[in-house]
Amino acid sequence: QAPVLNIVIGSHVWVADKDLTWIDGEVFKIDGQNAHVCTTKGKTVTANVSDIHPKDTEAPPDGVDDMTRLSYLHEPGVLDNLAVRYAKNIIYTYTGNILIAINPFQRLPNLVDVQTMEKYKGANLGDLDPHVFAIADVSYRQMMNEGKSNSILVSGESGAGKTETTKLLMRYLAFLGGRSGTGGRTVEQQVLESNPVLEAFGNAKTVRNNNSSRFGKFVELQFDKSGKISGAAIRTYLLERSRVCQTSSPERNYHCFYFLCSAPSEDIKKYKLGDPSSFHYLNQSSCIRVDGINDAEEYLATRNAMDMVGITEEEQEAIFRVVAAVLHLGNISFAKGTEADSSVIKDAKSRFHLNTAGELLMCDCEKLENALIKREINTPEGVITTTVGPNSATVSRDGFAKQIYSRLFDWLVNRINASIGQDPSSDKLIGVLDIYGFESFKTNSFEQLCINFTNEKLQQHFNQNVFKMEQEEYTREQINWSYIEFVDNQDVLDLIEKVRVGRCYMH
Ligand SMILES: Nc1ncnc2c1ncn2[C@@H]1O[C@H](COP(=O)(O)OP(=O)(O)OP(=O)(O)O)[C@@H](O)[C@H]1O
Ligand SMILES: [Mg+2]
Repeated sequence: QAPVLNIVIGSHVWVADKDLTWIDGEVFKIDGQNAHVCTTKGKTVTANVSDIHPKDTEAPPDGVDDMTRLSYLHEPGVLDNLAVRYAKNIIYTYTGNILIAINPFQRLPNLVDVQTMEKYKGANLGDLDPHVFAIADVSYRQMMNEGKSNSILVSGESGAGKTETTKLLMRYLAFLGGRSGTGGRTVEQQVLESNPVLEAFGNAKTVRNNNSSRFGKFVELQFDKSGKISGAAIRTYLLERSRVCQTSSPERNYHCFYFLCSAPSEDIKKYKLGDPSSFHYLNQSSCIRVDGINDAEEYLATRNAMDMVGITEEEQEAIFRVVAAVLHLGNISFAKGTEADSSVIKDAKSRFHLNTAGELLMCDCEKLENALIKREINTPEGVITTTVGPNSATVSRDGFAKQIYSRLFDWLVNRINASIGQDPSSDKLIGVLDIYGFESFKTNSFEQLCINFTNEKLQQHFNQNVFKMEQEEYTREQINWSYIEFVDNQDVLDLIEKVRVGRCYMH
């Protein structure tokens, strides 16, 4: 909503504040475009009248559970409403039929238990307090009553709580469409247990989130005619490969590396592992342990979850052999060879890691060595083999490690899908999308560009559905309404994806 300009002396307003974002106060003087405000924190500030927003002095002290009921739907009004509710441990608020969830960073009592699930089952949206279960319930009812497939989009910046919210959505959908008491592993149990497996291999501690998803995920739950879950498919997108070889304080590599280094001693011996800080791929960052993550327990929990999703003991051994091999690969150093642009394995320690990586990957160690220190070039005359210097060999080593890790991840996803099983006869689906949120670091790479661009696309989809289409309909039907201003990010998208015809070409 555009700022209201009829600010007068005595108006209650919100002004921008560098610490609190917005602060409320009362206008005591106006000269020209400047309003002088005495804030409730006792400060006096001066701001341009066009930058200040009116405050609703009659807003309920506990806030409103649907933001559309606010008198002023401007940024400070929305934030204040959310803050008032959050202070009372109320983390969910509606804006029409959209749910806003705020990360509580603690388990709130009775918020997501079975009794609460029972309560929301079949209730109309808005009849009960705002809740993520209500959103899942609406999508399920719509699917059942109108035969319409639905998708639930969970978006927000890194650490906002998307993955936790996604898990709650899936738990509730499993509760509605589950086949309790059938014995054995059900589809929904397998879908739920796939989370810890995917998180072990695709999540890591970042600056913003100790359990940050480093991949995007779309879970498609398939339902049969009676509304029971009959199959599921997990699609993943764009695993952050660079993390495998490169981490910096205070971040960590993927969880599974640390879990494996804290495995029971027979596994440590089998994979010739040791202190995580002795591995180059882990010790570039000084962060090895994370408060609240018990790597040894998580290792066992991951193995357990793998059992649940139907990954056999033999397959699990193979998976962790690849994980260990990646660590050993990272410890292979190269030195200059006798000839120009050639390299050799640096020392006995590096040779040990090379041989161990070869053994774990069950490949010929000599071939592995050659793959790192030599390069094959295809020419019309045939394949020419050349040697490469230590720097290029290191790049090959990292490339190889990234490649096998990301293939392992894709294999895992396929394996989980094969185990859960698809229902080809299902014509009703509910999809839940959880991708990684907006990111901005000190140094941003191509991966951040892809992540942020994807989020901008989703924001545009949201804008299209929530603002543009809705408002166009109002105009078409000549409904009397006041235009809601929103930041349209189309320009940002055009800059990156629009095909340009002109004199400027980008290569
Ligand atoms: N509903 C919740 N209840 C309790 N704790 C929560 C909840 N949501 C989030 N958290 C806490 O916040 C942390 C971060 O949440 P989550 O991993 O879901 O963020 P995200 O939005 O998926 O971030 P990213 O984009 O980095 O993957 C969780 O590990 C958990 O500690
Ligand atoms: Mg996440």
